[in-house]
Amino acid sequence: MTGTGSKDYWNQVAESDPAWHIATKFRSLDSAFYESGEREVEYFLSIAGLSPGSGQSLLEIGCGAGRMTWALASRAGKVIASDVSPEMLKLAKEHLADRKNIEFLELTGDGKIPISDESVDFVFSYITMQHVPAVEAQERYLTESVRVLRPGGRGLIQFRRSGLAPRVLDWVGHFAHALGGRRTLRAEWRGARVSRRRLEELTRNCKVSSFISTGRRHTWLSFEK
Ligand SMILES: C[S@@+](CC[C@H](N)C(=O)[O-])C[C@H]1O[C@@H](n2cnc3c(N)ncnc32)[C@H](O)[C@@H]1O
Repeated sequence: MTGTGSKDYWNQVAESDPAWHIATKFRSLDSAFYESGEREVEYFLSIAGLSPGSGQSLLEIGCGAGRMTWALASRAGKVIASDVSPEMLKLAKEHLADRKNIEFLELTGDGKIPISDESVDFVFSYITMQHVPAVEAQERYLTESVRVLRPGGRGLIQFRRSGLAPRVLDWVGHFAHALGGRRTLRAEWRGARVSRRRLEELTRNCKVSSFISTGRRHTWLSFEK
């Protein structure tokens, strides 16, 4: 499994029920949905001490329908909004049509990021790695993030937390959603889990590498190249 099956799965849900699959408390891509992205960007950047400026660039991995991208593009000079799903990218383009500082990039889903070495100042990713079905693909996203960051650049990437309790809570959620008729037992929804030790190993050459937990199931890896 490489993560490339994600394309079909996320294309289908982008067409049938995008809001719920992006953030499960929403049913439509309405103003409340997009306002939640603004608030979350503000909060997550602040807990990691990140403040992208107008002269800087930021890569977002897994932009979905652009829920968080507007807020990111209000801060950074340029945003590269990337996603495995062209149907998600289509929704993001519609929402972000008025913003001129965003480039859209379709990914293969196996962790490769087709941009040049040391070309961005920030990498940001939320509730995306947790759906990537192959450990190798998540690890590659991380090593690729380090590769594309300029020296001194900062990365903030959310992963599923390790340990028994987060695992049980995740499975309870997957089953509950499946009983509600969603295809959440599929690997493309459940994703894989990379150990904390492995995430540390992959960023051992970064100057700062720390974990920030938000909630019982999420952890963020914050690093500086
Ligand atoms: C839950 S949504 C989150 C979107 C956005 N980060 C947000 O918070 O609004 C997950 C996104 O990850 C993308 N995704 C899933 N698997 C992926 C993969 N293997 N590689 C890149 N993106 C992937 C999906 O297409 C989807 O847009």
